[in-house]
Order: sequence, then structure tokens, then C-alpha cells
Amino acid sequence: MDAVTCTAPVNIAVIKYWGKRDEALILPINSSLSATLSQEQLCAKTTVAVSGQFTRDRMWLNGKEESLENPRYQNVLREIRRRARKRKIAGEGEEKGTSLSDALSWHVHICSVNNFPTAAGLASSAAGFSCLVYSLAKLFKIEGDISEIARQGSGSACRSLYGGFVSWNMGEKDDGTDSVAEQLVTENHWPELRILILVVSDQKKHIGSSAGMGVSVKTSELLRYRAEHIVPRRMKEIETAIQNKDFQTFAKITMQDSNQLHASCLDTYPPIIYLNDTSKQIMHLVHKYNDFCGQIKVAYTFDAGPNACLYLLEEEVAGVLAMVNHCFPPIEQNGDQHIRGLQVEELPIQKDLKESLGFTPLSPGALKYIIHTKVGTGPQVLPSTECLLNENGLPK
Ligand code: DP6
Repeated sequence: MDAVTCTAPVNIAVIKYWGKRDEALILPINSSLSATLSQEQLCAKTTVAVSGQFTRDRMWLNGKEESLENPRYQNVLREIRRRARKRKIAGEGEEKGTSLSDALSWHVHICSVNNFPTAAGLASSAAGFSCLVYSLAKLFKIEGDISEIARQGSGSACRSLYGGFVSWNMGEKDDGTDSVAEQLVTENHWPELRILILVVSDQKKHIGSSAGMGVSVKTSELLRYRAEHIVPRRMKEIETAIQNKDFQTFAKITMQDSNQLHASCLDTYPPIIYLNDTSKQIMHLVHKYNDFCGQIKVAYTFDAGPNACLYLLEEEVAGVLAMVNHCFPPIEQNGDQHIRGLQVEELPIQKDLKESLGFTPLSPGALKYIIHTKVGTGPQVLPSTECLLNENGLPK
């Protein structure tokens, strides 16, 4: 058995991807841009293995065997094998270890886990697919751009293949070869930047992003206008803001773009609503906080669910957390910490901020917990001791 184990990060978009021009190849109607989050707090870990003993392709996700029949897995596996075959024909990839000829004729076993609860409602498909594609590419000794393959698993997954800030250029070609991810700056570019994920309690089932964006593309004129006229300009502006570490511009565009995604969802027919009352209260508080400070100190962004993701600088973290904890008091937990991740001093809310907010604290539990993290690296290869499969190719 030949195996590779890797980890890959979650990413949170500041210019959102919403809408496909080709459903099968997962080609977007607009470019997008995200920050890659540190894998200390959030990552997927995947082992992929090939062996002459395996009788079929199999996969285990978070301890449960899952079918690989889903076309997205099939597309990823087919594309990986096609690229490996091309290398083999070119006489490459035979240097060491299992030969490509063997690997190509054998079946694959995949075992993947997340280091965060999937129930948190955090987008795990980006980390999962990017980890799968990165690991398979290592196993099959594939070189060159692999974001095109990850994109076919889940669009946003292509952005998780790099650390720092990453753009996904929509491309123009019908075959998708120019719809690829590219690193804008590394994780060391803006070391003061922090991210707080406010995990919002929510019982309701939402329409998934793929289905949601499908209806939006068909029915929302606002979405079409956004993709054609607004995103191209915003991409340029936010790239410059990131390069210059211009937090004011970065934060404003981030909030505007999140709001426009959710406006396009409401413009979809029938409408799609991902934000709940707590999400809206968080938005309101962020604006109040910024007004109180006299400049933008914190930005929110929301994906296809009610969780808020706040971007801010390190010096603001304690103050913002004090406000969040005042307005959304933590619920008693049995042993689990309410604020997870990077350590921070816990302060009470500033008196004049409290007065200026005029916000009656909600009853405890509106927020499940908070993750404090920063921008991080792209996927990593782990030593073989980290392998998730035993010598028979079954989960350990
Ligand atoms: C709101 O990448 O999950 O998070 O390509 O259909 O798998 P598929 O969709 P997915 O969509 C992510 C949408 C988003 C915005 C973003 O991450 O850019």
C-alpha cells in the first residue's frame, strides 16, 4: 500500500462566488477572493492510499463510509487519473516509490476527518475537496496547477490550495482551463489580521449553496448585474487594499460584498434567506462599533448560513470580543470553551461603548461559540505516522 496524508485549510471569501456558468465543470459567473484560515483551528485531514489488494474505490468521511458515486468525486478521480496517465505517457513520475503504472491500475481508499465539528455549519467542503485533490496529486505525482481539479469538487475548494489571500479568476474559456486559483499574497503579508467566527445557533435547514446559486442564476437580475458590472471593479479595489494593508477599504468592500450576496439571494425567486435575527444583530453591532470608533475597525461577512465571520486587526480583538460577549452572553458549557483558538485577554465592555450601543443583551445561547483565528498556510503533507488508514487500508 502506498499512502499520502495531508491537511488543508478552510477559506472565507471577501468577494463572494455565487453562481455558475457551467454546472458540470463548476465555472463561476464572477471571480472571487478569500483569506485562507490557519489550520491550527480549522482543517481537513485526509489520507489517500492505493494498493493492488483494494477491490474498489472507497471513502470514509469523519468515521462513516460514504459513497463515491457523487459526480463531483467521480470528476476529481477521473481528472487526477487522466493527468497521471499523461505524465506516464511522457515517461515521468516513475522515479521512486510505487510506479505510476501500478498506482493507475489500483483502486484508491480515502479517509478524511475535520478538526472542527461539521455541525458548526462551517463550510467544510472547501477544505475537504482541496485536501483530497492535494493528497491525490501527491500520491499520483501530478505537477502543475491542480486548482482546476479542486474546483470540480467544489468551486470554493480551489481557493484552499494556497495560503494567505487567494483569488479565483473566473476565466473565459469553455473548457475551464483558465478558471484557476492564484495566490495574491502569502500568510506573512498582513500578520496583524485576525478572524473571529461567531457560530450562530440555528435550528433551520437551509438550501445548500449549490442549489441556492442555481436558482439565483436563473432568476436574479441583480446577481447578473453584480457579476458583470460590480465584481470586476471590486476585485481590483480589494486586491490593492490587501496589497497596501489598507484595512478601511478592505473592510468596507468585504461588508458590501457580503451584503450584495445576501441581497442577490433575496432577489432570487423564490427568495433565499441565510441570515437570521442574530446575524442581523451582529451586522448592526459592527456598524455601531465602527461609528463609535470613528472609523472602520471590524468587518463582517456571511456565507450560505447565519454564522458571522469578522475580519479585524489584532489590537481590536479584545474590545470586539468584550462587546460580543456583552450583547450575546455565552451559555454555560460543560467543559467546552466559549472562545476557542488563539488566546486573548477577556475584558469587560467599555462603559461608554455600552451606553452608545443601547443594546439590550440577548438571553444566553444566541451564539454557540466563537473561533479566534488568523490567516494561515496552504495544504501540508504530513509524515506517514499520521496515516488515517491501517495496513489493510481501513480506517484506524
Ligand atoms: C457563499 O463552493 O460550496 O461560500 O461550487 O457548488 O460546491 P459549489 O459551491 P461552494 O459555494 C461557496 C459559496 C459561498 C461564497 C464563497 O465561498 O465564495
